[in-house]
Amino acid sequence: MTETFAQRLLSWYDSCRRVFAFRGPKDPYRVWLSEIMLQQTRTESVVPYYERFLARFPTVQALAEAGEEDVLRAWQGLGYYTRARNLHKAARKIVNELGGQFPTTTEALRLLPGVGPYTAAAIASIAFDEPVPAMDGNLIRVFARRTDEAEDASKPAALRCLTEEARRQMPADRPGDYNQALMDLGATICVPGTPDCDACPVREGCRAAALGHPEARPVLPRKAPPKAVPLNVVLIFCGDKVYMKLRQEALLRGMYVFALTEGSPEDALTALHLSPVPCEHVGDARHVFTHRVWEMALWIARVPVIPAALDHDFYTLTQLDGLPVPVAMRAALEIARKELTHEAKA
Ligand code: ADE
Repeated sequence: MTETFAQRLLSWYDSCRRVFAFRGPKDPYRVWLSEIMLQQTRTESVVPYYERFLARFPTVQALAEAGEEDVLRAWQGLGYYTRARNLHKAARKIVNELGGQFPTTTEALRLLPGVGPYTAAAIASIAFDEPVPAMDGNLIRVFARRTDEAEDASKPAALRCLTEEARRQMPADRPGDYNQALMDLGATICVPGTPDCDACPVREGCRAAALGHPEARPVLPRKAPPKAVPLNVVLIFCGDKVYMKLRQEALLRGMYVFALTEGSPEDALTALHLSPVPCEHVGDARHVFTHRVWEMALWIARVPVIPAALDHDFYTLTQLDGLPVPVAMRAALEIARKELTHEAKA
């Protein structure tokens, strides 16, 4: 008898699977944590963060009991910090409202903050053996090629067809391995652009490969390039301290940043009711978010005194190292640390 799609895929997975720290025990907390981290971050980049985070918060109870600032600090460097805030909210919900018990089905998992249809399916299949396809970009690509889907794969109708095909091919057992095998296939063989069809364990039955145009699938909409935002970042020093502001805006909410302004660097000082002092241009930096790019000019300003109203907004080097600061501030942070180290020695 000829082997099925799932049999060929799983035999390949059994010998060629990628080994990751998060593919250890089927503990729902670990699976959930890794799937949230993997949402917008490359697999290889996630591993050190995953291990560090797990050491810091080994259980859902430990995470629920932590303060938000500690959670954001443990997430620092991974970006898309809304994920960390939602993870924390979800941990509190599990502990305070669900008696510490993880939801076990796709439907129930969807009710957790930060868990969308893809993540719910990934957790349910990997941690609880629910036979449901986890349609991430990899599965979409594999099945769009297999069925030679010519419609825009981001549209609900096309996605439904691809999900149906993924479900049809799903084996009765090992749903988590099936999904992860497809993720590995999509990441190593059925890659975006030109795939390595010669190495593919499920080439048989792949229509786009047979038609000689796998690179033409999936059809996806053109993404608008992120919008450039010119910003002045002002590092305001007073003695051995630097000014940091807790972000209230949706982008980077809960993280600490230096004074930011779309106006002149001096505007940053007047906005804080600081007397104007000359600002020195010390460098430039760029950070790409999903929908915008911060094109940053970095400035230093030294003020003679900290007004009483800003007493709690200036931090020493030691205090600064304990704050959650986004990667967007990395270049500015490096300058600030150097200045403060120098100041501490003086
Ligand atoms: N991307 C998202 N989840 C993943 C997983 N479990 N394995 C590999 N890549 C992934």
